[in-house]
Amino acid sequence: MHPPLIRIKITMTNVNADKLSSARFAEATDAFVEVFTASVDFDQRMAQQDIQGSIAHAKMLAHCGILTTQERDDIISGLTQISQEITSDNFVWSIQQEDVHMNIEARLTDLIGFAGKKLHTGRSRNDQVATDIRLYLRSEVTQISAQLTRLQIAILNVAEQHADTIMPGFTHLQVAQPITFGHHLMAWFEMLSRDQERLQDCCKRINIMPLGAAALAGTSYPIDRNMTAELLGFSRPSANSLDSVSDRDFAIEFAAAGSLIMMHLSRFSEELILWSSAQFDFIEIPDAFCTGSSIMPQKKNPDVPELVRGKSGRVTGHLMSLLMLMKSQPLAYNKDNQEDKEPLFDTADTLINCLRAYADMVPHIQAKKANMYNSAKRGFATATDLADYLVRKGMAFRDAHEVVGLAVRLGIQSQRDLSELSLTELQHFSPLISEDVFNYLTLEGSVAARKHIGGTAPETVKLAIQTARQRLLLK
Ligand code: ARG
Repeated sequence: MHPPLIRIKITMTNVNADKLSSARFAEATDAFVEVFTASVDFDQRMAQQDIQGSIAHAKMLAHCGILTTQERDDIISGLTQISQEITSDNFVWSIQQEDVHMNIEARLTDLIGFAGKKLHTGRSRNDQVATDIRLYLRSEVTQISAQLTRLQIAILNVAEQHADTIMPGFTHLQVAQPITFGHHLMAWFEMLSRDQERLQDCCKRINIMPLGAAALAGTSYPIDRNMTAELLGFSRPSANSLDSVSDRDFAIEFAAAGSLIMMHLSRFSEELILWSSAQFDFIEIPDAFCTGSSIMPQKKNPDVPELVRGKSGRVTGHLMSLLMLMKSQPLAYNKDNQEDKEPLFDTADTLINCLRAYADMVPHIQAKKANMYNSAKRGFATATDLADYLVRKGMAFRDAHEVVGLAVRLGIQSQRDLSELSLTELQHFSPLISEDVFNYLTLEGSVAARKHIGGTAPETVKLAIQTARQRLLLK
């Protein structure tokens, strides 16, 4: 008994196509197995990369005297036509042809005959698919990196407007010390800068060419792998044929870099969601990025940040899938590897969509400055500044900690911030306190004092933004 075919998602069939490698087989493939083992439903996404790789391969074969120039030209014009058929949605994909590679090759032979059958000389689908994924990921990384840059620029612009907007900084989600909103935004910027570096770094290992490794052992034809690598813009041909067809480290690295990006966006989301709640009320997320509730008319839900936070889970899941996919595979290629594509494609899609939504939304986030300021004040955010003040006047830090605790207690009882206590009241806690204490107890004084590299002082934040802009321009 076969399970119902409907469980497998297939959107196209072409019943007239010939079965792949049929000469070896006495029996036809089981109908369910044919559908079960096919990948064309999802790997057709790499069609243009497959064609690009095949054109380079044909040029190299002709250059090395393995194809005639006529055969090369026929192949190139056939593949160019196929590329157009695919772009204009006039290509008939067939399950019987199993995957994107066989579909394109079969169509090429339909179009140009004999020369089409020669394209696969000196290669295998194993090095072909590894090449296609690398070409595909290379272009996805470029797009992801561009969206990341858009978001970084958006953050810099908002940070610039808020270099001296005071808000509470938190540890344990309790008010800790005053910071500037610009400084907080620049923390996000730093995370994304590391993400950019990781993407560029993983690109170095994506950009190596497997073609020529053939099935696993290389080929007996006199090929020129340097030429193919150069034609395809790869930095070099891979060094070992077995490793070339089986290596998916680059895919795992990409998913790991992607997981970190999504983890950052998720943290970012969490703060936006909290801050837009009535309880914090620090920011307004523009209506265009929120939705209402079907039942509660007062609701404005921060859907975009919530969805991005939720989507971070699937990318981390894809990273785990890829690691598990590879962990027990013997050398060299195994059909298992066909399972690498869906997690990779979804990782790239999710990253591009989430980064795009964020880059569109961030410039329109409104900071509610007065609420941020008052929240820092209510939270005794300058308590550490008072302790530091006492230490400068000669008190031991532990004693200062104790004294300030008592002052905070009075503030809580009388519902006043430390800066609102009178000098006489403060002197009651320590005779070391004099009039100049108020320079340190104000939120402005507290942030201005932290003007070392990496600190929250408005002048330092402005400098950090300037440096960051230069770094982006140099990229
Ligand atoms: N569709 C296959 C994949 O994605 C292509 C390589 C198939 N190679 C093979 N020897 N069956 O991995």
